[in-house]
Amino acid sequence: MKKVILIFTMAIFGAGSSVFAQNKLVISADQGKEIISKHIYGHFSEHLGHCIYGGYWVGENSPIPNTRGIRNDVVKALKDIQIPNLRWPGGCFADEYHWMDGIGPRDKRPKMVNTNWGGVTEDNSFGTHEFLDLCEQLGCEPYITGNLGSGSVEEMSKWIEYITFDGESPMANLRRQNGREQPWKVRFWGVGNESWGCGGNMTPDFYADQYRRYATYCRDYGDNRLYKIACGAGGDDYNWTEVLMKNINQQMQGLSLHHYTIPTGDWSKKGSATRFDEAEYFNTLSNTLFMKELINKHAAIMDQYDPQKQIGLMVDEWGIWTDVEPGTNPGFLYQQNSLRDAILAAINLNIFNNRCDRVKMANIAQTVNVLQAVILTDGEKMLLTPTYWVYYLYKVHQDATLLPVSVTSDAYEMNGKKIDAINVSASKDASGKIHITLVNIDPNKAQTIDTELQGFTAKKVTGKILTSAKINDCNTFDKPNTVNVKDFNGAELSDGKLNITLPSQSVVMLEIE
Ligand code: AHR
Repeated sequence: MKKVILIFTMAIFGAGSSVFAQNKLVISADQGKEIISKHIYGHFSEHLGHCIYGGYWVGENSPIPNTRGIRNDVVKALKDIQIPNLRWPGGCFADEYHWMDGIGPRDKRPKMVNTNWGGVTEDNSFGTHEFLDLCEQLGCEPYITGNLGSGSVEEMSKWIEYITFDGESPMANLRRQNGREQPWKVRFWGVGNESWGCGGNMTPDFYADQYRRYATYCRDYGDNRLYKIACGAGGDDYNWTEVLMKNINQQMQGLSLHHYTIPTGDWSKKGSATRFDEAEYFNTLSNTLFMKELINKHAAIMDQYDPQKQIGLMVDEWGIWTDVEPGTNPGFLYQQNSLRDAILAAINLNIFNNRCDRVKMANIAQTVNVLQAVILTDGEKMLLTPTYWVYYLYKVHQDATLLPVSVTSDAYEMNGKKIDAINVSASKDASGKIHITLVNIDPNKAQTIDTELQGFTAKKVTGKILTSAKINDCNTFDKPNTVNVKDFNGAELSDGKLNITLPSQSVVMLEIE
């Protein structure tokens, strides 16, 4: 009988019409257990292209307003999204970086070739002191990746002593000689980067042994307690995770995972950041949803060896990787950023939130001027990309309690393939407010959603939305506000239920009191 009614209703109103809502959310507002670590909203900045040089560092004598050589506009923008941590100096660069070249008087620092990124000369003017000054200006935690690929155990060990030791020692004294009396606090420490690739082309067994050796000499000085992060898998290399969990296990506090979304799925022709059709849009977002499977499968392996979930899965490189902008240095990985990329970021952040039982950190690549940047600069000019505005909307989830959500979603179809049109996560903050972040991936159709808030009496709902006329709209230096956040009034409360109408191709954040 039910089936008959359903078919009859569909015949009258059509499937997915706004009258016959197929979308349903059930939010268990009284069932939250896990905290969404603020470090899921972390960033990654490498010595690559104009990320560090031009992006953050302009030098003390620059006409661009700066504090000790670091751009004030960029610092302010990142503080506004509450950047919780910053990973540095790489990336592939980390395994060729010798930290002692980046301390002391700048005019005396040796130069090197940045072999990974464009073969340009690195003059080491941005080093340990400058990075840690940047983190202090940002009010965020530093995350440093040590050189395991071409460095030595001694070099890594001394770097930690230099930064964190308070007493009398050759390294602590050298730090003082270079102008910093007090040690810094650095908790997050990466032991190598992509050691299966640019970080040394190692096998997982070899790396696991190397990790144990290096990590032994990564000491805790005073009350600085290192959170050591082992180099994890690239994408779906589940064997890498298995071997490390078996052979390293409790000697690490975190295990990383790197995964980039390639629009076409083809590394040799990735696709343009701005010139793409709806089919490529669909493929890109369908590809990015693979992150959910990756996390679930890596997490399942970790669960076998670490059932108490003491080791964090750190997605410390992720984002969309497109072809570079025409005419730019291919080694600098400079790409524009569109509404599509904002939608992609919102989907991934929802995925990380929903697995915050295991995912303890994530770092989008790479903050300024590189890959899926949140900020682009051009000389003294700076703009905020659509992806920036997702971080602005989602900051409400930082350190909030995840709320379980059950989602029934309409499908977004293209060329016979289907993905869920709606993507969601929800949390409750310390003041008791609920925040729901929703994505409507479908660029052709608004979605109406019946939402049940179990265990919560809602009195008021407000919201913000990020959308634009076209999926490839982006912000440029001439038109920096094309894609921007606006107030959203497509959600209403009636009889204790929340009815939401999500416009097509949009990201929405709702606040419920
Ligand atoms: O983010 C660009 C590069 O991607 C990083 O240097 C490396 O770790 C990864 O392959």
